[in-house]
Amino acid sequence: MPAKIIDGKKIADSILGKLKDKIKNSRQKPGLAIVLVGSNPASEIYVNSKEKSFEDVGGYCERHDLNEGISEIDLLNLLNSLNNNPKIHGILVQLPLPKQIDENLVTNSISPHKDVDGFTSVNLGHLFSENTILAPATARAVLHLIESTDIKIEGKNAVVVGRSNIVGKPVAMMLLEKNATVTICHSKTKNLVEHTKKADILVAAAGKPKLIKKEMVKEGAVVIDVGINRVDGRIIGDVDFENVKEVAGFITPVPGGVGPMTIAMLMENTLKAMELENKIKS
Ligand SMILES: NC(=O)c1ccc[n+]([C@@H]2O[C@H](COP(=O)([O-])OP(=O)(O)OC[C@H]3O[C@@H](n4cnc5c(N)ncnc54)[C@H](OP(=O)(O)O)[C@@H]3O)[C@@H](O)[C@H]2O)c1
Repeated sequence: MPAKIIDGKKIADSILGKLKDKIKNSRQKPGLAIVLVGSNPASEIYVNSKEKSFEDVGGYCERHDLNEGISEIDLLNLLNSLNNNPKIHGILVQLPLPKQIDENLVTNSISPHKDVDGFTSVNLGHLFSENTILAPATARAVLHLIESTDIKIEGKNAVVVGRSNIVGKPVAMMLLEKNATVTICHSKTKNLVEHTKKADILVAAAGKPKLIKKEMVKEGAVVIDVGINRVDGRIIGDVDFENVKEVAGFITPVPGGVGPMTIAMLMENTLKAMELENKIKS
């Protein structure tokens, strides 16, 4: 039987609808600042879509489009002013940044309470203490999509392909927290198929088009495709969707899976950041 398709767009729309109601009934508007450096076409598409979604739910969005050649100090000064701006509850700096700028330094210059991407070392560190404040949006999206299947995560073999700090590692930590037995694979993993074939839950976050083939997937597995790859003018995932859906139990499409859910999680994080700030002030 072919896999059930996990409709990330539908689930995200339902979350955004609830956020919209919550914001409508709130006396305060959440404020999001989006910082884009340079004119990378993919980054522009992501930023436009985040801006539109945030405005659609009724938030206040402030966009800072900066010149490719901006100095590190000027960018840090902007972040400092946004950290201190009471109208702004969440700050997003779209990655990647140009070579002259230290991405790690910039990311960690965002106040952890406004870090709605969840990329600062403080927020990533909280994942280890099971005391998350603002967790990485894509990882939250992945967990949400897995949970939408009603499959019990506890005790399952979960395999995450990819170990980046912003996707693979946080996803693995969150699955571990839910009591899955987690394996993390990467580019130096020998015999990838040996691992993926044992996965009840398989998360592909390698950035390699169609890396995960049908014969690498266990029958009935939940397959979550995080990959966004541009091939011949189309966007495709890390999973060979058409063939893998013949063996998987559940599968996310690309586009329409993790992407829209990540945006919904970002919006949710921004509202959470506003509520956190109010708690600190009171
Ligand atoms: N849908 C969304 O909202 C969303 C959000 C963020 C990212 N993404 C997409 O998700 C993908 C991953 O993003 P990222 O930022 O984590 O990428 P990344 O920083 O490039 O990390 C890729 C990871 O995949 C591993 N890898 C690469 N080739 C592999 C192979 N053949 N076999 C096994 N592992 C392999 C790498 O291993 P090494 O560590 O050994 O190099 C690395 O750990 C990209 O396509 C990105 O565009 C989507």
